[in-house]
Amino acid sequence: MKNNIFIEKYIYSGYGFSKYNNEIYFVENACPGDFVEIEEQYEKKNIHFSKISMIIEPSKHRRKPMCDYFTVCGGCQWLNCDYEEQLNQKTNIVQEQLKRLSSIEVEVDKTIRSNSQYDYRAKMEFAFSTNEEGEIVLGLNQRNSNNIIDIENCPISPKPFDKIKNVVRKLVKEYDVPIYDPKTKKGMLKHLVLRKSFSSNNVMAIFITHTEFFPRLKDIKAQLVKIFNGINVIHVMNSSDKVTLRGPYKSLTGEGVLKEEFDGFNFQIPPTSFFQNNYYVTGKMLKYILEYYKKEKTSNTSLLDLYCGVGLFGNYFAPLFKQVIGIDYTKLSIKAAKANSNINNIKNTTFIAADAKEKILEFAEKGKKFDYVIVDPPRAGLENKLVGILSKMVEKSIIYISCNPSTLARDLKQFQDENFKIKSVQPFDMFPNTYHVETVVILERIEI
Ligand SMILES: C[S@@+](CC[C@H](N)C(=O)[O-])C[C@H]1O[C@@H](n2cnc3c(N)ncnc32)[C@H](O)[C@@H]1O
Repeated sequence: MKNNIFIEKYIYSGYGFSKYNNEIYFVENACPGDFVEIEEQYEKKNIHFSKISMIIEPSKHRRKPMCDYFTVCGGCQWLNCDYEEQLNQKTNIVQEQLKRLSSIEVEVDKTIRSNSQYDYRAKMEFAFSTNEEGEIVLGLNQRNSNNIIDIENCPISPKPFDKIKNVVRKLVKEYDVPIYDPKTKKGMLKHLVLRKSFSSNNVMAIFITHTEFFPRLKDIKAQLVKIFNGINVIHVMNSSDKVTLRGPYKSLTGEGVLKEEFDGFNFQIPPTSFFQNNYYVTGKMLKYILEYYKKEKTSNTSLLDLYCGVGLFGNYFAPLFKQVIGIDYTKLSIKAAKANSNINNIKNTTFIAADAKEKILEFAEKGKKFDYVIVDPPRAGLENKLVGILSKMVEKSIIYISCNPSTLARDLKQFQDENFKIKSVQPFDMFPNTYHVETVVILERIEI
């Protein structure tokens, strides 16, 4: 069925949205302000998922996407929309998710921009696969599919990544390395993860295999070292098909860690540990939070850094607090968080490897309190009941850093019910050209 519709806005998930004659349309590759003819692909829960069959009048925000794979690749959804409009749309999306899912009506500040819309990603996970012709491909997921498409150039990943990836593909073909097939569980090589440190300009190439056996890796490493000066080469063994970057690893060449620096603080990041994906936006986020703590006069107070990773927030803000405790369930990250305190001569931090909910429950039983808390959970947000327990433990404020406005909305509602008020909501554009948005919310305890 064909229809002419006007695209009002973007929604979280990246589609262009239109409501016409009481029908709702989600349109792929649309740009807000487009007037288009659409063709319905399928209907689900009364929503018409559609594709553009003709652009009648393009939006003034429409632009030529800087990528040959746009519309096929699952990575970016908004490459065809100008950057200012992407920022406006992200602000609206956060505002709408809070209102629609949790009836929270609050002013959302304008999304803080990324220094660069392109070349910004500190980590890219490329997958190996074999196509129908039996050729080895190395690239990203096709949109709405588990197929892997071969990618030569990716505009949001740093320039050296394209070169390394294309050399690796050539070498893997030359050496006839068996590619892992998740359906049969046979084969060896699964992923090439590339990570970059922006402050030291170092690159890490991480080869992920299903089995420990990877006979040609030494030859591949020797070639990479010749071509890419100072490259770190790592081998990770991971038998899980669910998570890409996990498991024991060996460092074949280089320092074995990535090094990042923010305002004189140095951070070492192990190959499999989480780190924020946009260096310059992370710097802006740190400054934003710093402004808040500076005004609070925190020097005699305590900070809990929950889901602390390698201790980015805990270590950076340690000089402002009397005591900092960080919790993360990844032992390797906790080891790095402690090392990061040592490197920076920080003595008032304690990092604990534990499940967030279990440790918080244990703290609650002991009657432990914190003045300030930063939480930076994974996309699923805070685990059930954690909000209630945390709320009773925090004296002054909670800074919630979220990469998912939907779970953020759910959790903020609970914090409001526990006598916290929202002081500010600030989105950051950690992931330009995609619908993803990072949001920092400051919540303060209501004095009763
Ligand atoms: C979004 S990252 C934040 C890391 C850190 N705040 C940073 O900025 O680098 C989420 C972190 O939560 C940790 N994590 C996930 N689930 C957890 C759980 N149930 N308990 C403790 N840590 C968890 C992960 O290991 C990861 O380091």
